[in-house]
Amino acid sequence: MKKKQIGFELSIYDHPNELSQIEQKLLKQAEEARENAYSPYSNFKVGAAVLLENGEVVIGNNQENSSYPSGLCAERVAVFQAGAKFPGIALKTIVISATSENYVVDKPAGPCGNCRQSIIEYEQKQESPISIILRGQVGPIFKCNSISDILPLAFSSSFLGDS
Ligand code: THU
Repeated sequence: MKKKQIGFELSIYDHPNELSQIEQKLLKQAEEARENAYSPYSNFKVGAAVLLENGEVVIGNNQENSSYPSGLCAERVAVFQAGAKFPGIALKTIVISATSENYVVDKPAGPCGNCRQSIIEYEQKQESPISIILRGQVGPIFKCNSISDILPLAFSSSFLGDS
């Protein structure tokens, strides 16, 4: 029997001004998008801003539904819109900002499992990493260099064989 530790590098910033200019701008865009979330059921608002290789930025926010499972997370609204609008253009970075109408979100909210799986599909397709930057309403900012860092042992199309 062998054991293997799997880890990844997480950068932690205390303040947005430690980010690059472009990352700061993306964070602002994610925060702006967050404010337009449609989340009357959870009162939890999430905004996402995706930077593409061609310099375009695509935003998304969570869209809830009275039939709860029909709603969609901010991250998937954004990456699916990027795929729809700019097919074949690589995604470089996704910035995610979360807040609540009920309390102050003071720590970064990681993307849910379905969103990680949806984002990693693009990373596998484009064969280059998508970095993830997270922040609550206030507090520290987390950055990881690849979505695969936070979805180890991910499923991929390679398991499906030649169908
Ligand atoms: N949500 C996101 O938009 N992104 C995530 O990664 C986690 C959760 C949304 C879904 C729902 O509208 C609300 O936050 C509460 O779960």
